[in-house]
Amino acid sequence: MQPNITPLKTSDDSITFHNSDVDETYHSKSGAIEESLKKFIQPSNLNKLRRAVILDFCFGIGYNSACAIDNFQGDEIEIIALENDENILNKIPDLNPDFKNFKIIKELIKNNENRQIKILNTPINQDNRPDIPLKITLIVDDAKNTLKDLPDNFFDIIYFDPFSPKKCPDLWTEDVFKEIARVMKKGANLTTYSCASQVRKNMIAANLLPKDGPIVGRRAPSTIAIKE
Ligand SMILES: C[S@@+](CC[C@H](N)C(=O)[O-])C[C@H]1O[C@@H](n2cnc3c(N)ncnc32)[C@H](O)[C@@H]1O
Repeated sequence: MQPNITPLKTSDDSITFHNSDVDETYHSKSGAIEESLKKFIQPSNLNKLRRAVILDFCFGIGYNSACAIDNFQGDEIEIIALENDENILNKIPDLNPDFKNFKIIKELIKNNENRQIKILNTPINQDNRPDIPLKITLIVDDAKNTLKDLPDNFFDIIYFDPFSPKKCPDLWTEDVFKEIARVMKKGANLTTYSCASQVRKNMIAANLLPKDGPIVGRRAPSTIAIKE
C-alpha cells in the first residue's frame, strides 16, 4: 500500500509533508525552509568552497539541494542526491517554495517521468548566475545500496537527512556512517538535525567527529560532524 503523504504548512509558512507510514514530517514543523537553511546549509561551510561536491542523503522534496544552490557563492557545484521513494518525488512538480532555484529541482524531476530512468545527469546553469556550472544527479534507490557505488574521498559536504533514528534506524548505523566517511574528503563535513547520543557514538566509531550545530526550532542542537 502507498503511504499517505499529506501537505502541511510549517511555522515559516513553507510547505512540507507528513508521511503516514513513518508518522513523521519531512521537515521540522517549526519551519521547513528555515530548517534547511539553518541546520543544513549554513553550518556546512558551503561558502568557503570555490568548487563544492555535495551528497544530499535523502533528497525528499529537494529543499536541501535547492537551498544549497541558492546560497552557493563559488564557481562550480555538483550535487548527488539519493532518494528511494517516487511517491515523494511526485509531489515536487506542484510545489513552489521560496527558493530562487527550485525550477532546477522541478526540471530534474520532469526528466525522471520515465520511471525506467533511475539516474539523471542534469547540467543546468543557474538563472541568476548563468556562468556557474551546476550538475545534479538524482539516484532513485535505497541510499545504503547507492552509497556502496560512490567513489572514495569525493564529497566536501554531506546533508544527512533521513527520517528519525527511531523510525529509520537502518540509515543511522555505524556501518552507514563508515560508508559516508569513506566517500567524504578529509576535512569534509556532514550536517544533520539529530543530536541523539547513539547517533554520535556511531559517527565517532566511523571516524567522524561530531560537535553541536545550531539550535533551531527546539531546545536541542543539531550536529556537525567532520571527517578527521
Ligand atoms: C526527512 S525526509 C528528507 C527531506 C529532504 N531532505 C528535503 O529537504 O525535502 C527523509 C527522506 O528519506 C527518504 N528515505 C527513507 N528511507 C530511504 C532509503 N533507504 N534510501 C533513500 N531514501 C530514503 C524518504 O523517502 C524521505 O524522502
